Amino acid sequence: MKKKWLLLGFTTFLISCSKQESMDTLTARVFTIAEQQYLAMDNRLDDTTLPQSITPDSTFKPSTIYWWCSGFYPGSLWYIYEYTQNNAVKALAEKNTLKLDPIQYVTNDHDVGFQLNCSYGNGFRLTGNEAYKNVLYQGAQSLATRFSPITGVTRSWDFLRRGWRYPVIIDNMMNLELLMFASKAFANDTLEYIARTHANTTLKNHFREDYSSYHLVDYDPEDGHVRSRQTVQGYANESLWGRGQAWALYGYTMMYRMTGDEKYLIHAEHIADMLLLRLPADGVPYWDFDAPNGNEYRDASAGAIMASAFVELSGLVRDKKMKKTYLSMAEKQLRTLASPHYLAEPGTNCNFILKHSVGNLPEKSEVDVPLSYADYYFLEALLRYKKATE
Ligand code: GLY
Repeated sequence: MKKKWLLLGFTTFLISCSKQESMDTLTARVFTIAEQQYLAMDNRLDDTTLPQSITPDSTFKPSTIYWWCSGFYPGSLWYIYEYTQNNAVKALAEKNTLKLDPIQYVTNDHDVGFQLNCSYGNGFRLTGNEAYKNVLYQGAQSLATRFSPITGVTRSWDFLRRGWRYPVIIDNMMNLELLMFASKAFANDTLEYIARTHANTTLKNHFREDYSSYHLVDYDPEDGHVRSRQTVQGYANESLWGRGQAWALYGYTMMYRMTGDEKYLIHAEHIADMLLLRLPADGVPYWDFDAPNGNEYRDASAGAIMASAFVELSGLVRDKKMKKTYLSMAEKQLRTLASPHYLAEPGTNCNFILKHSVGNLPEKSEVDVPLSYADYYFLEALLRYKKATE
């Protein structure tokens, strides 16, 4: 008996001494799975569809090009191509990017930023194709039509529930990257003015004293005053919807990178520091930080978006200790997401890469499923981490 316990103790000692997987090996492992999954994913699609999620009866759920997530599959293919240099992946990235051509003319929704920046934006960054650049410019001009100088923000949704008159969601910070890119690439100051004004108005109206963000602010379109603050996709109006906090962190970090305006960096640091206090030990947020027991799904998409933002923020702050703190949090989140609980086995998960995201729990839609944007920001975060540590 004593011998058995000694052997067990020795084995445990050996495991605890064994080296943790290096981030390079982890990244190679994830991209091998991603390449397999996303090459196979294309067989599930036709000329007008893109991957969205999995239905409650476990079948593949495609979307049309007009769903806000349509740019994430082509975007992920571009990231996989960037890492693997596999030309078969590049061909699929090109094919699936071109499906989104009509999105450049969409003026009835704010998400053209997500849709075009992830697809055409990455395509242009990696290939320099001028035709992609022109689509991005037209898309930015379409998005700019949604700006009002009275409210000082671009409008998110045209549908009006709950008596809204001019709803703006925190997610909309992400669409500013398209405006900033087009403003720089085509020397168009108006686009930059709109992006900065939106970010400034959101900074003033969307945040609580602890730097957590509401999901939605409804404005009066006639005089610009705030009519109400809500959290539509979260647990309660005053709760911290996980992905909303992720969009906020990513959005202000990105706006500092694009403008060099210190107030965006300071705001991103405040959001990051609030998150460091609230995140669970493994770094992957609950779908809502304030959801009560029994209702506590994790949201891999929020974890992936935060990881990407934490890596970027670590490269922008000057304080050495905080650089390390933000990068360590990103590493922790990436390690958790790359564990078997979250990372799919090849050939499973309807060819998505990550499991366990939450789309819209109050609507009972996309709960504890794969989502194309979880995959996209996970791959982006790994590439960013690789570049930051090389
Ligand atoms: N932009 C919608 C969401 O984050 O669910």
